[in-house]
Amino acid sequence: YFLKSTRGPMTGKRVLVTAGPTVEAIDPVRYIANRSSGKQGYAIAAALRNLGADVTLVTGPSSEKPPAGVNLVRVESARQMMAASEKALPVDCAVCCAAVADYRPSIETDRKIKKERGGLTDLPLTENPDILKTISQMKEGRPRLVIGFAAETDDVLGHAEAKMARKKCDWIVANDVSPGEHCAMGGERNTVILITEKGDETWPEMSKADVARELASRIAQTLRGPTL
Ligand code: CTP
Ligand code: CA
Repeated sequence: YFLKSTRGPMTGKRVLVTAGPTVEAIDPVRYIANRSSGKQGYAIAAALRNLGADVTLVTGPSSEKPPAGVNLVRVESARQMMAASEKALPVDCAVCCAAVADYRPSIETDRKIKKERGGLTDLPLTENPDILKTISQMKEGRPRLVIGFAAETDDVLGHAEAKMARKKCDWIVANDVSPGEHCAMGGERNTVILITEKGDETWPEMSKADVARELASRIAQTLRGPTL
């Protein structure tokens, strides 16, 4: 078969993309997860690869078709995603698009929890590691460009700016995930605000593939220039 040429402005650059939800097992049949489809992250991985980048896509369970020519690493839990992401380093750019489950059950059992044995009325939770924050705050070998996502409702820009300051990533792609006709969560389209050191820009509503191409081209431009 025929693979598209992989030469472009990102040739020689390594990129990590996290995508999809993570799932956190409660017992062999139950889990905690979220509504992420993986679409936006897969599209970003594809767009960066099309510019020539060497892309590792670390993904939670997703039914999206894996883009050709990327190193695909499938994981389930946040802890597995953290480990697989660290293994993909060093990179020039990390794009943390995954909707990582914030919490996991404190105790995972390999035996099904049964109603007649007290069931599941109380589920103690433990906070998961934060991949974006960990990579953003690396003392040695930090990627030049670390990009986070912020899916918010209500004060989207305010929450996203606070998140960027808290995690110390370089850029944040913020989007409104209020339920509705064109909801980004699981949907095909996205309206995003890109927040960089230069301020914020609201992009018009477009397909997730177009968001990905636009973001990839901005990444390529930035990595071509002098160190941030
Ligand atoms: N993220 C991550 N690891 C986590 C949680 C989040 O890498 N354990 C990343 C996401 O991939 C995203 C960014 O952090 O790029 C923001 O995720 P979000 O869920 O919006 O932020 P939280 O800090 O978890 O805050 P909250 O869910 O309370 O809004
Ligand atoms: Ca979260």
